[in-house]
Amino acid sequence: MINAVSEKPTLLMSSRNHSQDPVRASSSVTPPPINSFPAYPASWYLFCRASDLRKPHSKRILGRQLVAFHTRSGKIAVIAARCSHMGADLGRGKVIGEFIQCPFHNWKYGADGVCNHIPGTSTIPGFARQTSYPAVERHGFVFFFNGPEPLFPLPFFFDANQHEFSAGKIFSYISDCTWFVNAAHGYDTQHFDAVHDRKLLAPSQIDCPNPFARRNRYRAEVLGRTKLDKLLKIFAGRTVEITITNWGGTFVVITGDFDRAHSRFIIATQPLDGGKTLCEGIVFAPRANNPLARALLEPMALAVRRFFTYGYLKDEASRLLGTRYDPGTMIPHDRDMIDFFNWVVALPQSVRNSSLATSPAKAEDSIPDRFAQPIVSADSTGTSSTTPA
Ligand code: FES
Ligand SMILES: [Fe+2]
Repeated sequence: MINAVSEKPTLLMSSRNHSQDPVRASSSVTPPPINSFPAYPASWYLFCRASDLRKPHSKRILGRQLVAFHTRSGKIAVIAARCSHMGADLGRGKVIGEFIQCPFHNWKYGADGVCNHIPGTSTIPGFARQTSYPAVERHGFVFFFNGPEPLFPLPFFFDANQHEFSAGKIFSYISDCTWFVNAAHGYDTQHFDAVHDRKLLAPSQIDCPNPFARRNRYRAEVLGRTKLDKLLKIFAGRTVEITITNWGGTFVVITGDFDRAHSRFIIATQPLDGGKTLCEGIVFAPRANNPLARALLEPMALAVRRFFTYGYLKDEASRLLGTRYDPGTMIPHDRDMIDFFNWVVALPQSVRNSSLATSPAKAEDSIPDRFAQPIVSADSTGTSSTTPA
């Protein structure tokens, strides 16, 4: 298992789908059944701010309790939080050197999740290990991959060097719909006009620049009459070229090139209980070279970008309230969304993920956690819920 992964591109394909066209996105008119979507896709997720790790930080995420910590040498770890001995929360423990120590009986685990010390005995049982997740710290945030190996590197903007950018503070909102309905609106041509007051100036271009990435590019005119859009037109310009790239189903990288301004941000989403989706946004601005500009201008540039970006997105959350996926109600006009749904269900998931969850309760609380991957199913009301694979 890998804990701290290199940010150099490594692409590990697993068995389900080797056929994605790297240039042209394929097309189909039949939407997939709801039970073909994984509840917690193999993708990158935002865990916390790096500054939260002055001590171990434990939280419930992806239907399980995980803990992140920094070892003394600076290695970052994200592992299952419920101790393999009797389930105490390692987030209440402490870091000693390269290990995290359980608060209950002082068992110690490394960043790879393996127990290497039990007080009073030299025999370490085989079950004494925590599931560990590949983790990366970038721009002051901790991200982890839901799987034993990252299937693709932590995404950034294709044309940009991450070291040349600074990140703003997180903004967040909850979409009252599943992760895949939330993600599909990046390919929902009708909503650009209806929700965002953007008039497409040409048909959108959709392609797959990477087997795990689906990109939508379009040029639009800003029509909005809200105060925010009026300001945007004055300061940034009337037309914009948008690029939305979805990685792994849940991690979205967005650029907006206006006549006089450039916007870049990511939306890291995560499925929540009850079929909702947490969306956490981070805006980026070019890093200033001189320290004075970095101290004075950079925070302002980031705050302005955050203001406009959050303003653009937050209204959308209320429009998504209660939206549900039903393949029977999709029409040919929804083709780009249907294509997205088919693409996302065909994405490779870690082979290990599928066979270990045996019930929703076990998937959430089993000790140790083993990449629980229930699938999403529709109950009789059409509301999504998670059930075991
Ligand atoms: S519960 Fe963690 S060491 Fe006993
Ligand atoms: Fe939108």
